[in-house]
Parts: sequence; structure tokens; C-alpha cells
Amino acid sequence: MTKNQNLSPLFDLYWENTNLNDKNILNFVNNFINEEKDIGRIEYPTNDIKLDYPKDKLYEIMKKRESNRNYNNYQINNKQLSSLFSCFSEINNHRLISSAGGKYPIEVYALCFNVKNLNNKVVYYNYNDNSLSIVGNCKSWSDLKSITGAVDLITGEPSIMFVFVGFPDRVISKYGERGGRFLLIESGHYIQNLLLRVTYEKLKAVELGGLYDNDIKNILGLKKSNAIITLGVICGK
Ligand SMILES: Cc1cc2nc3c(=O)[nH]c(=O)nc-3n(C[C@H](O)[C@H](O)[C@H](O)COP(=O)(O)O)c2cc1C
Repeated sequence: MTKNQNLSPLFDLYWENTNLNDKNILNFVNNFINEEKDIGRIEYPTNDIKLDYPKDKLYEIMKKRESNRNYNNYQINNKQLSSLFSCFSEINNHRLISSAGGKYPIEVYALCFNVKNLNNKVVYYNYNDNSLSIVGNCKSWSDLKSITGAVDLITGEPSIMFVFVGFPDRVISKYGERGGRFLLIESGHYIQNLLLRVTYEKLKAVELGGLYDNDIKNILGLKKSNAIITLGVICGK
């Protein structure tokens, strides 16, 4: 249960009800496997207006973004690491990512599995001076895989797992229950920026929606806080 002074009891309850554990994880994973490809479209009785696709570099990168689930223990270097974290930075006193009311409820952590000079370290990203703090140590990917919901779909070892952590108080104190909605939407902004940068770097990534909240919080040193774990993204080659 998150503790935000009862300003958002329904969001707290919703969060608790969407927690995963050893009992419900298989059902969750099967839902990913049984994904339906053709979801159709909404039909309107008007003549559709044809549009052009852009022919620029940004669109080339957007077109290439995809989920990859096979990794090869590749060790990312400092240049690639900097490039990936730059997605969440602040330049000239302005953050790259928008936020409802400028409350910025999302913080970015990462578990480094195969990262030059940072193997088995947990890091936290400081957006204001574009730096990493070392939070502590973590086990290897193969030891932690079972608490990420990754199961057999993911093969090999990724280089790094980003974790997007929400601090609900920051938005709920201003927006009440609706703040919970904003927090989750904002997590998606961070992730899309990252996925495009991953594509630009010719690396691979996939989102992991099945993280075990409490286990991951412990690894990040956030056990006693009311932080919530929104999503993970593993990345590598
Ligand atoms: C919120 C969210 C959670 C996801 N969680 C998982 C996951 O736990 N495991 C997984 O293999 N893929 C996960 N995915 C990736 C989707 O399965 C993938 O995006 C979808 O199949 C479309 O494929 P594409 O990303 O290659 O276009 C997730 C995607 C999103 C947006």
C-alpha cells in the first residue's frame, strides 16, 4: 500500500490490485504471448484523407523501433550509456520530458549487468547535472530474471535494465486521484524517449511490465519509501 496521506485511496487500491506475484505471473505472461495482431480500425462513413509519411531521419528512427527479446551479453560502453541516459536530462534549465504541473513524479534507476566499469551496480540518474549516483550492488541478470516477469520469452543477457520509479505524492498532492493517472502517463514519455534512443544507437530493448514491485524496490534501496515501480526496460544487443 502506498502511503500518500489518504489523498488517493482509490489509486492506492488500484495499485495494490495490479501487483504481480508467483501465483498470477503465468497468467500475465500468457497474455503477452497470445497477443492479437490485427485489432482493426474504427470506421467512419466519410471519405478518408490520405496523408504522406515523413522522409526525415527522425521518422527513420521511429520506424525502426521494435521490441527485441534475444540478447547476447553485450557490454555497453560509456558513450552508449551516456547516450541512453541523456533521454531524461535537463538542458538550459529545461527538461526533455514534459510533466503535469512540472511535478516530475518519475525518477530513473538502472541495474547494470554488462556495463563497462559498472557491472552489478545499481545507479540513479541525476537529471540536473547529467550524472549517475551509485546506489548499491545487484545480482546478475540470470539471478534476477524471475522477479522481472521476463520468463522464457527473453533469451541471453541484456546489458542494463532501466526502472522507471514513480513518487505519487508529488502529483497527488496537487491533483488528487487524477495525479495517479498523470504519473503513469509520464512514465510512458520517459520510455518512448529511451526506446527511440536505443534504436538510434542500434541497440535492442523491450519493456518489462511484469516486475515484482517489492523485490525491485528493495534492490533500488527504496523499501521504506512510498515509491511505486511503473515499468522496466531491458536493453542490450
Ligand atoms: C506497458 C508495456 C508493457 C510491456 N511488457 C512486456 C513484457 O513484460 N514482456 C514482453 O516480452 N514484452 C512486453 N511489452 C512489449 C510488447 O509486447 C510489444 O511492444 C508489442 O508486442 C508490440 O511489438 P513491438 O514493440 O515490437 O512493436 C510491453 C509493452 C508495453 C507498452
